[in-house]
Amino acid sequence: MKKNILVSRQYPREGIRLLEKEDFLLTIWEKQRPMTQNELIEQAKTHHALLCTLTDKIDKHFLEQCRHLEIISQFAVGYDNIDIAAATRFGIPIGFTPDAMSEATADIAFGLMIAVARKMFFLHKTIINGQWGYFNPTGKLGVELKNKTLGIFGLGRIGVKMAQRCKNAYNMDIIYHNRTRNKDAEKLLNASYVEFDDLLLKSDVLSVHCALTSATKKIFNRSAFQKMKPSAIFINTARGPIHHEKDLAHAIQAGDIWGTGLDVTNPEPMQKDNPLLFMENVCILPHVGSGTIEARNQMSVLAAMNIIDFYSNRQVPHIVNPEVLES
Ligand code: DGY
Repeated sequence: MKKNILVSRQYPREGIRLLEKEDFLLTIWEKQRPMTQNELIEQAKTHHALLCTLTDKIDKHFLEQCRHLEIISQFAVGYDNIDIAAATRFGIPIGFTPDAMSEATADIAFGLMIAVARKMFFLHKTIINGQWGYFNPTGKLGVELKNKTLGIFGLGRIGVKMAQRCKNAYNMDIIYHNRTRNKDAEKLLNASYVEFDDLLLKSDVLSVHCALTSATKKIFNRSAFQKMKPSAIFINTARGPIHHEKDLAHAIQAGDIWGTGLDVTNPEPMQKDNPLLFMENVCILPHVGSGTIEARNQMSVLAAMNIIDFYSNRQVPHIVNPEVLES
């Protein structure tokens, strides 16, 4: 029997072509807006498998309605939109797409770091507003990054790539904090493991690369920012709820830190009147970390392969809850 796959939006053709070749019956949501959760549930009810992404709400309610799904393959490395415990209880394997976007996301973190250090987005806006002004030897000044200390919160695949960029370009010292030590990365980067408070105290640039969990939610709050250097730059390209957005804005206004570069906000989309958008030392992007042709193509291939290998009784290459398939 042919399997019906619900594809929650238009993903790159590379992966879709692989699914089509395997003779699955695909229903692709073609509208220029994501499905509401009710629409997703209604559609998923008549399908065997789902290809979805980070803004599709795959919570307990969805899973209770759609416990018949044989596999859910997520087009993303993060899966905080999915209730993994519930999926595991219902025996639904969850695929994901790790590493496909590591280079692309590290580029965005690295780019934001430089953009904040030199106030690039703000200065761009001054031109639009007719305020180029004159050459002022003491005006519009940024800071340099050479020989500074980079603190990584979550030294995994993307964190390592960010650290490599900073080490190679600016000879930065690397310190990090993780749940578990990453000895390979320590060797590769000559990185030192530090406690969370030390990461806050010592980092000139602090870049977040961890997953969003109950332990990391709002961990960067007022008390954390107050421990940081007044010259520090805070970068988050992981998930918005890891920082407390009002506390972050307050920290910059109060001079607790120098500035911030965000590719993720809380909520998303960010409201256009958010005070952070008008601050001099702030650069914000609309969650485009994985937004390169190369990364998105590879993500679509990995997401498709999870489904193809599952139905071919091969080992599913990238799975969040492998215990479901073992039992
Ligand atoms: C991911 O894959 O989790 C990214 O946030 C998508 O850009």
